[in-house]
Amino acid sequence: MSISDEARAILNHNWKEAFTIPTSKLYPFQWMWDSGFVALGNRHDNVERSIEEIKSMFTGQWENGMLPHIVFHSENEDSYFPNHDFWNCHVNQGAPVSVKTSGITQPPVYGFVLESLLSSYPNHPKVINLVRECFPKVVHYHQFLYQYRDPNQEGLFFIYHPWESGRDNSPIWDEVMSNIKITKENIPPYIRKDTAISDNNHRPTQDKYDRYVFLLELGKKHQYDGIGIAQESPFLIQDCMMNAILIRSNEALIQIGEAFGIDTEELKSWQALSRSNFESKFWNEDLAHFVSYDLRNEKQMTHKEIGGYIPLFAGLASQSQALSIKSYLQSVHDRGYYLCPSFDVDSPLFDSKRYWRGPVWPQMNWMLYHGLKKYNFDKLAQIVKSDFIELVDKLGFYEYFESKKSHVEKLTTGYGGNNFSWTASTYLDFKSKI
Ligand code: DGY
Repeated sequence: MSISDEARAILNHNWKEAFTIPTSKLYPFQWMWDSGFVALGNRHDNVERSIEEIKSMFTGQWENGMLPHIVFHSENEDSYFPNHDFWNCHVNQGAPVSVKTSGITQPPVYGFVLESLLSSYPNHPKVINLVRECFPKVVHYHQFLYQYRDPNQEGLFFIYHPWESGRDNSPIWDEVMSNIKITKENIPPYIRKDTAISDNNHRPTQDKYDRYVFLLELGKKHQYDGIGIAQESPFLIQDCMMNAILIRSNEALIQIGEAFGIDTEELKSWQALSRSNFESKFWNEDLAHFVSYDLRNEKQMTHKEIGGYIPLFAGLASQSQALSIKSYLQSVHDRGYYLCPSFDVDSPLFDSKRYWRGPVWPQMNWMLYHGLKKYNFDKLAQIVKSDFIELVDKLGFYEYFESKKSHVEKLTTGYGGNNFSWTASTYLDFKSKI
């Protein structure tokens, strides 16, 4: 079997009638940004599946527009913590009744996912119907972010849980997380399930998990409603990557709206505000890097990390900012790392095997590749693509990968979950001609 055929077999195996799970046991439900990337990979061989995937995701949308990070299509699976009972989303009257969900969101990828499907299939009736059907839903989701998550009306939304960022245990969150004091009284008892399935050394540590549970409970206390959370949460971050992805997705919606004759005035005014505040809030001249902003403590979070390169994907960097990011990434490559490590390789907090503290992540390479192409950095874009392909060819379809080349030489597997959907879908997308 060719490696691309293996990727197809993984996507078939993880397909559960109307949606794809990231991997069995570790993540046995539908995850929001995973599904977006899976839809991109599936479009080449099975666009009908991409369509169903996206429709399934939107069955979890809340009345206020929020798109949850997990849709629990099945309630019997018990290998994941926190399950639907623990989230108890019905504290919010607008949570869907037909399906259980989590109470937080994830990177807003669906605008650009719809655009990508449409650009591959501009005349496919089912794709066109999907885009017409989902367009207002994605706009409603973006409206939720602007309405509930942007208390100062800056056009930049906040997250209140590291899981929302997708980069759960990145060192960028360490300082804020360590200021949360955990006691027996302020979190309920719980049992992790992830470390029984995946290597403990590759997963977030226990002290992080306690804080994930603390922030989940804080959300629940406020009916998962952004406004009360903005007043109370110690973790209140305008994440540079999340906002760059929102802007990229807004841009996609504006293009689609114009092509379909749909009114885009509201989208354009959100977009203008977001774009105008992005650079002043997130660019750090000393680091020559985009960084996130701690809204609770009103300061930039001065770390170099992978989220800081995603503004390229949204065309938010000036030519000189893009050039300095490019030369930094080139130096990381020249020093013996696979692109792209998820955290600053020169920091003492870098850990090349622990989740978001250093490893290479498939979907990040996808966004980075397209970001570098946008600025015509074609050679570096090819490295980002071929590094990922080389890691998969050598180590298999894992959730994430060792970033240090000298370590990879001694390894036979990647890290985290195996037979991972977004790894398979990114592989197929990179190998395709589209
Ligand atoms: C997890 O469970 O580790 C996820 O990243 C959060 O959904």
